[in-house]
Amino acid sequence: MSEPAGPLRLDAPREEVLEHAAKLVAEAWQSFDRFRPEEPPLDERVRQLLRTELPEGPTAAHEALDDAARILDESIAQPRPRYFVGVGSSGLEIGTIADLLAHTYDVNLAVDARAATQIEKQAIRWAAELIGYAPDAAGAFTSGGTVSNATALAAAREHALPGSRHDGIGGRRVAVYCSQEVHYSITRAVETLGVGSRNLRAIPLGPERGLIPEALAETIDRDLADGVTPIAVVATAGTTLTGAIDPLEEIADICEERGIWFHVDGAYGLPAVLARAESFRGFERAASVAVDAHKWLYLPKACGILLVRRQEDLVRSFAHEQGYLPHQQHDLHAMETTFEYSRPFRALKFWLAMRVHGADAFREAIERNLGEARLLYDTVSVREDFDVLGPPKLSIVAFRHRPAGVTDLDDHNRRLADAIQADGRVWMSSALIDEQVWLRPCFVNFRTTEEDVLDVVDIAAEIGERLAAEA
Ligand SMILES: Cc1ncc(COP(=O)(O)O)c(C=O)c1O
Repeated sequence: MSEPAGPLRLDAPREEVLEHAAKLVAEAWQSFDRFRPEEPPLDERVRQLLRTELPEGPTAAHEALDDAARILDESIAQPRPRYFVGVGSSGLEIGTIADLLAHTYDVNLAVDARAATQIEKQAIRWAAELIGYAPDAAGAFTSGGTVSNATALAAAREHALPGSRHDGIGGRRVAVYCSQEVHYSITRAVETLGVGSRNLRAIPLGPERGLIPEALAETIDRDLADGVTPIAVVATAGTTLTGAIDPLEEIADICEERGIWFHVDGAYGLPAVLARAESFRGFERAASVAVDAHKWLYLPKACGILLVRRQEDLVRSFAHEQGYLPHQQHDLHAMETTFEYSRPFRALKFWLAMRVHGADAFREAIERNLGEARLLYDTVSVREDFDVLGPPKLSIVAFRHRPAGVTDLDDHNRRLADAIQADGRVWMSSALIDEQVWLRPCFVNFRTTEEDVLDVVDIAAEIGERLAAEA
């Protein structure tokens, strides 16, 4: 490969730099294959780098890349098989390679980019087909559930109050409905869209931790009688806290009877429809659906997917006529249906992942994660020294250590979660569920093994006993 001269050129042949980067990536992948016994602290080199001022001159690319790899190695990486905090991700290898390719061409998916635009449309259709949503669904790849949810609710607002994108909500009284355990991104969306979080009606939970449909219907009907305009009902298909799924069929009925927008936030849980279709029945009736491929479809961030039944709903909320946009002479551009303008080619990693692995491999990996949650549940539920919160709804298990002699279990488990993080053999955090502190691992990584799951229990017991003895 010949090397051109001029500014901003690498100091070594590009192919060599790329080969060096490829070696670093391969080393990282190898280190993700198995858990590592401990997390390294920040070493002296990294501390020294953190003290450096803005470089005025160049550093050799090889050296700078080695430093970058060192920094990453000393960071918390979600692809490691024992990362169970929040809803993690896996950094699926083909997705990493897809990102490198996509960023190399730096295509902008705001306006028509020819083949890439067509591939994004195809990937949207594939995503709909994968999960069993409307076969002619439209939508877009987004930076994640937060943006997908906000985009869907913007469309819902315009649907409920035509013209509100221009006029604002004014003095009109509006409401959005959801479960008490909805993800915070919905609260943010209603705040940003001028609905206001005071008008987010958090419907109480039933025994399965999904919202109570009768309470939803009553709240909506009371609002309607009172002159409030419902904007949308948000059902969560897999809550972040426990993996609970709202009663989707009943919610769809309530929305249909009253002509209200039905949005499903399946950012975390919806991929499990591949393995547990019956748990998600009714989701396919939603006007809009959010699902994150960077969570339980294993791809690297960012890869959110927003699907809508009717593309016009997005157009009504987002289309703009601007003289500097060369879009009049084309079909619809993504910038007329999405919130972002500059958009990377996120669809490529989903498209390549489906081609390289096929949908069945994803079904199998999800099934395995569901089995891991079940294994953890079965293991702790027969032990005297642990409590566990019901069989897992999806791939989250809430359990807590209950050693003999400890009375304040909340304090004990809070300290246990901190100590587990300091220990670093597994990454797991605590969660407050019904005002009680629980450990809450979530299994969404294709690299996790049964050994990893069983070690979660052994490590929690070992550290928990030590804490109990010290107390
Ligand atoms: C149910 C749910 N919705 C939305 C989000 C937000 O997704 P993102 O972090 O991709 O914006 C999350 C994140 O965990 C989630 O679990």
